[in-house]
Amino acid sequence: MSAFIAPSSLRRDGLDLVARINDLKNRHNAIILAHNYQIGEVQDVADFVGDSLELSRHAAATSHPVIVFCGVHFMAETAKVLSPEKTVLVPDLAAGCPMSDMITPEEVRRLRAEHPGAVVVTYVNSSAAVKAESDICCTSANAVRIVESIPAHLKVIFLPDQYLGEFVRRKTGRSLILYSGFCPTHVRIMAADIFRERKKHPDALVIAHPECPAPVAECSDVVASTSRMAREVQASDRKEVIVGTELGMIHRLSRENPDKTFIPACASCDCANMKVNSLEKILWSLEDMSPEIRLSPEVIAGARKALDRMLEVG
Ligand code: 13P
Ligand code: SF4
Repeated sequence: MSAFIAPSSLRRDGLDLVARINDLKNRHNAIILAHNYQIGEVQDVADFVGDSLELSRHAAATSHPVIVFCGVHFMAETAKVLSPEKTVLVPDLAAGCPMSDMITPEEVRRLRAEHPGAVVVTYVNSSAAVKAESDICCTSANAVRIVESIPAHLKVIFLPDQYLGEFVRRKTGRSLILYSGFCPTHVRIMAADIFRERKKHPDALVIAHPECPAPVAECSDVVASTSRMAREVQASDRKEVIVGTELGMIHRLSRENPDKTFIPACASCDCANMKVNSLEKILWSLEDMSPEIRLSPEVIAGARKALDRMLEVG
């Protein structure tokens, strides 16, 4: 499956969208950041495409005063927390993340009261308000390292993703207190999907995201963040790859590896929220300088502590 479209030729209704976006981007000294699951044409117009950790680092380090964030809401919030003085635009405010909506600040406070002294490790797929109630954040790229950095005698509450939590528990041997959140997109992939595709493509490399249920992770060759998946595929000499994650990932993989074939493990592993952004909406956000992420100074300060601790661990 290959979905690569050259960005320079995207004309709609006689308007060269890419040229217009680039023009406004230069005028506002803006940078466009996009997650690996964005639709192809959005990835292609972006200045940087990456996983959650890389996007956070980019947002924190960039000198551009305006960030157009193409991903889901919690990712853009993270950019705002790390760069509060910058304008963070989102092409569509409706691009949420159902997993992040599964946990609230009240629930974090309830868990803390239930487990006094426990360290709260929160996956970045959470609102800034939830991060502000947490001790340290993690992403799929560094979750194992973050938990390992916590002294062994301390209890750890890991939220909201039960499957990433289970993956970290297996890798670290720590007995984590897990929450019941999950990604409604990744739970669609089943171990039976992997077995079926392996039978058809016995030499294929199988990659999966740690948000997948444990049986999927256990029968995959590589379980990693989206950008590490991309690096593993580039480093591998296998010509076929079974992809156990959101379908948007195949665009980047196909662009970087034109000699390889990518087989989705599950054809319905599609995150509708990631797909609401479009070139038109990027253009409108730059024309109107809106919609913009706005957070209270209290939430920014609280979430910043938990994110800074994560970035310090590296
Ligand atoms: P990554 O940080 O691995 O890119 O994952 C983000 C995400 O939302 C996966 O569903
Ligand atoms: Fe959220 Fe899952 Fe979509 Fe990632 S793929 S943004 S976790 S719903």
